[in-house]
Amino acid sequence: MIQLVIGSQWGDEGKGKIVDIMAAKADLVVRFHGGNNAGHTVVINGQKFPFHLIPSGILQKKPTVVIADGTVIDPDVLLEEMDIFEKMGINLKKKLLISPRCHLIMPYHKELDQAYENARGKNKLGTTKRGIGPVYADKVSYNGIRIYELLDWPLFVEKFKFQAEIKNKILVAFGVIPIKVETYLSIFKKLAERVRPMVRDTFAIFQKAIKQKKYILLEGAHGVMLDNSFGLYPYVTASNVIEGGVNIGSGVPSKRIDEVWGIVKAYTSRVGGGPLPTELFDKIAEDIRERGYEYGTTTGRPRRVGWLDLPAVKFACLLSSINRIAITKIDILSGLSQIKVCVDYKLDGKKIEFSQCGYLELEKLTPIYKTFSGWKKDISKIKSFKKLPINCQKYVRFIEKYLDVKVKIVSVSPERKASIFV
Ligand code: GDP
Ligand code: IMO
Ligand code: MG
Repeated sequence: MIQLVIGSQWGDEGKGKIVDIMAAKADLVVRFHGGNNAGHTVVINGQKFPFHLIPSGILQKKPTVVIADGTVIDPDVLLEEMDIFEKMGINLKKKLLISPRCHLIMPYHKELDQAYENARGKNKLGTTKRGIGPVYADKVSYNGIRIYELLDWPLFVEKFKFQAEIKNKILVAFGVIPIKVETYLSIFKKLAERVRPMVRDTFAIFQKAIKQKKYILLEGAHGVMLDNSFGLYPYVTASNVIEGGVNIGSGVPSKRIDEVWGIVKAYTSRVGGGPLPTELFDKIAEDIRERGYEYGTTTGRPRRVGWLDLPAVKFACLLSSINRIAITKIDILSGLSQIKVCVDYKLDGKKIEFSQCGYLELEKLTPIYKTFSGWKKDISKIKSFKKLPINCQKYVRFIEKYLDVKVKIVSVSPERKASIFV
């Protein structure tokens, strides 16, 4: 079986938590795009594990985890994560595989990301400044350096020097101090030695797993609204978040995917700039932010929050053939007397579809809301759907009907155990 987990909104929907649960039975858990702009959290008995590159399935005994082709790797971040899990006693040489096709985030990518943001001034996009845009730009313009080159040290050094010379000219034009290649060679050398035993032909591994009907779990990062093509460009990330990104980023044919799980946070959150039609600025927003601990897993930035935006989520479902939904963080809505859900958009008095909107339309349109009565009870320990307050059940059922996709999991706390299977 092949399962894909993707974020249906602006990221941070709780993908890490859902992947961790599903990973218990998986043979392979795979990151296939993005880099350490992602921050996926797993919570086990109160202990928090943030993941940026290594797939969230690593805490489960069974699976081998794979950093596949489309993922971009920052050496410092991967080495640090490897240290964390090795210290916990996890044998990464047995548990982690890495594709040689993964591109490396070089020091100049991070500098360029920062320099572009500074140059944009008040129009900055709010990137995570992890070098994601520049590394993918180098990938598509044939200027990237991959794990493949890293394993051939003289070739790597030659390529690094050549690219750094060009990038330094741009950095100087931005008024930024150029980078010195020598400063970074030791960290890349260390990375090369650490990853060498883990680098494999992941294509062949996936093909064999498919043939043997193994269980492959694909861990998407970010959210569909951040997809480079279909998100609200330029307020997007650099990779393809949608279902098609699987084929591009892992070589696993999209046609082979059996289940596409859309993770839907019971409200909206977003880090970074760009329009957010249902954004709240009042006391309710503060409440949701504090109770939901809506602060970036990667950057610590406070997340913007708003009501659930169903036209956007519906678009994500159609775009990525989502056929299973997991609703997360519904417990955070407990205690609100009323809960609103956006069901339509209007612009200049006329209905407008999400697919017709770019960021200019999204900035101006009026969300049309349906209002639900809330529930008071703490639901974080509830184990069955029928025991949820009736208003909470109604909220879930409405989402299901609107999206025309079955809700299979309702998550009621960050804890691994706190998931209701519907
Ligand atoms: P991801 O990027 O999609 O993996 O999501 P993040 O980990 O960045 O953000 C989701 C946050 O919500 C994390 O702190 C999770 O521990 C937490 N979380 C996940 N599911 C639930 C839930 O059902 N209820 C609550 N209260 N927190 C949750
Ligand atoms: P996970 O996987 C939330 C956002 C950034 C910014 C935009 C571009 O944890 O859900 P980038 O650094 O990628 O060039 O920034 O994309 N962004 C995310 N927001 N969760 C994420 O990942 C994100 N990955 C990127 O905040 O607005
Ligand atoms: Mg996150």
